[in-house]
Amino acid sequence: MGCTVIIGTQWGDEGKAKMIDYYSQKADIIVRYQGGANAGHTVVVNGKKHVFHLIPSGILHKGTICVIGNGVVLDPVQLIEECQLLEKEGIDVRKRLYISDAAHLLLPFHKEMDAAMEEARSNKIGTTKRGIGPCYADKCLRVGIRVGDIFDEEYLKERLTTALTVKNIQFERCYNRKGFAFKDIYDLLMQFKSYAGNLAINTPYYLNTEAKKGKNILLEGAQGNALDIDHGTYPFVTSSNPSIGGAIAGSGINPFLIHEVVGITKAYVTRVGEGPFPTEEKGEAGEIIRQRGGEFGATTGRPRRCGWFDMELLKHTIRINGITTIVLTKLDVLSGFEQIKVAVGYSVNGKKIDYFPSAMQDKIVPLYEEHPGWEEDISQCTSFKELPKNAQNYVKFIQDSLQVPISIISVGPDRNNTFEMK
Ligand code: GDP
Ligand code: IMO
Ligand code: MG
Repeated sequence: MGCTVIIGTQWGDEGKAKMIDYYSQKADIIVRYQGGANAGHTVVVNGKKHVFHLIPSGILHKGTICVIGNGVVLDPVQLIEECQLLEKEGIDVRKRLYISDAAHLLLPFHKEMDAAMEEARSNKIGTTKRGIGPCYADKCLRVGIRVGDIFDEEYLKERLTTALTVKNIQFERCYNRKGFAFKDIYDLLMQFKSYAGNLAINTPYYLNTEAKKGKNILLEGAQGNALDIDHGTYPFVTSSNPSIGGAIAGSGINPFLIHEVVGITKAYVTRVGEGPFPTEEKGEAGEIIRQRGGEFGATTGRPRRCGWFDMELLKHTIRINGITTIVLTKLDVLSGFEQIKVAVGYSVNGKKIDYFPSAMQDKIVPLYEEHPGWEEDISQCTSFKELPKNAQNYVKFIQDSLQVPISIISVGPDRNNTFEMK
């Protein structure tokens, strides 16, 4: 297996967590490489649902080691909560978790700033209000506080004092909100230190050493390529790189060790939050997909916007990330449609284009093809040949158009509702 990267190919919520859990059967180490608790990753095992926001989705496999990489913005309150929940379920999470000492800490003032900025915006992004943008902004401004800083108390005090002085002025003068007390944040950092400080390590050293020993490493992306700060629908994106560059920078893994890049792809498309969505179906069909697919955010509970499969969006993701194999998820949700639409091209201002444009994305007009649907419930299918003919044709059509093999099909939320194409 070597080193495998799992990337969401659309706007997130493609079913990455379910597939990370699946791939974890053969993995030794699973690494979250970017994003933070904006992620909502659902794994269902024997009917029991687990939702992860920060902890890698491979934690349910007893033999695995999970790592929170340097590219993640780590909310200590969320981490403690998630660990406690898992420990209550008998999962020895703190015996199998490492945290990068270079990961940035996402603190209560980042969440408050996210909410304040979103409230003040006339053109809202629809963020998860988990503090993601403000924490990455501090990282880029070089005023962030990193996990490793908690071990040098004098240095930490100095960093926190500087950060709070500026933040509190911003809260009070720009947003008419109360600032934060030094003691409250400092105490939180000390609580985090005593709860999880011993999990902090130099993760690039650890990962590359383990990879050299032959360990199988899975790099777990959050969000999706269309939410990428560089390659997505800017400014309606998240503040990190869910794409391959983020996997390398956010884990510190030697890129030559990566030999598989798996694109998790929903059989239709969803997006939560604002921003361009060329194949969005605002009418009845979108509502049917939302209800059948349970398309409500795992982090915020917001209804997800739903629409048809978008070939151009996928080609864009494949191009940038070097996707070597595709996992097609939620095919079962399309059962019952007489006709299934697929966008096979775009036009912008009356001109056909054969790429996903970086600007004027709200002017994209999708060019559709219709494919005959199928009636049957396919959630119990265990092989490609058990699928109804029209479902087979739909899968083949996607594979042929993308020219990337579809290796696995997911037909239900449970670990078992999965089969390999072979
Ligand atoms: P992630 O963010 O990419 O990990 O995806 P989410 O967990 O946010 O959303 C995917 C949702 O679809 C979850 O509720 C999963 O349990 C569910 N799911 C995953 N794969 C399938 C599938 O093949 N069929 C159906 N019906 N549900 C699925
Ligand atoms: P997973 O990992 C879907 C969206 C938000 C918003 C935009 C910016 O579960 O696929 P942010 O809070 O990151 O600043 O919000 O990004 N968003 C997601 N949408 N799935 C996610 O994660 C998302 N994480 C952020 O809705 O539009
Ligand atoms: Mg999700």
